[in-house]
Amino acid sequence: MLTESMNDKKISLTLIDAIVFKHNVQPGAVIPVLQEIQEEYGYIPPVTIQRIAHHLGIFASDIYGIVTFYSQFRLQPPGKNLIKVCHGTACHLGGAERLTEAISQHIGTTEGKTSKDGQFTLGRVACLGCCSLAPCVTVNGEIHGRLNPESIGKVVNKLKEEKTANVE
Ligand code: FES
Repeated sequence: MLTESMNDKKISLTLIDAIVFKHNVQPGAVIPVLQEIQEEYGYIPPVTIQRIAHHLGIFASDIYGIVTFYSQFRLQPPGKNLIKVCHGTACHLGGAERLTEAISQHIGTTEGKTSKDGQFTLGRVACLGCCSLAPCVTVNGEIHGRLNPESIGKVVNKLKEEKTANVE
C-alpha cells in the first residue's frame, strides 16, 4: 500500500511494516527501525511514526520524543544536497566544529536543518572509517577529506554553480 507523495518518493506502509517485522516487532528496536526508515526515505515521514507506534504498542509521542532527541533523525525531507560532517575523534580533533561553522555560513543553515531554498541539508555523522583523511565530510554520499573552511567552501560553491547551470 502506498500513501502520500513526499520528496518524489512514495511512502510504502507495506515497506514500513516489513521493516518493523524484520526487527521482530520489539519496542526496543525503535531506533534501528527509525534508522532503516530514514535510510530509505532520507527522513522520518510522520505517517510512519503512527504506523510504528501501532505495531509496537507504544505511543507515537514517545517515538517523536526519540526522533527529536537524536540529531541523526530528521522529520523533514533533506535538501537536494546532503552534507554530513564527521564528528568522530580524529575529525573532531582535526576541526570538525570549524568545518561545521564554515559550511553553515556557506549554505545559510545550521546542523540538522535544511536551507530555505531546499538546496542543502547539514548533518553530522560518526566516524566514516577514513580517519587518516580527517577532517572529513560526505557530500551526497561521497567522502571529501583533509578539508579546511576554505576548501569546503569550494566544494559548496561548486554545488551552487551546478544548481545555477541547471536553471535556464
Ligand atoms: S573520525 Fe572522521 S573518519 Fe574517522
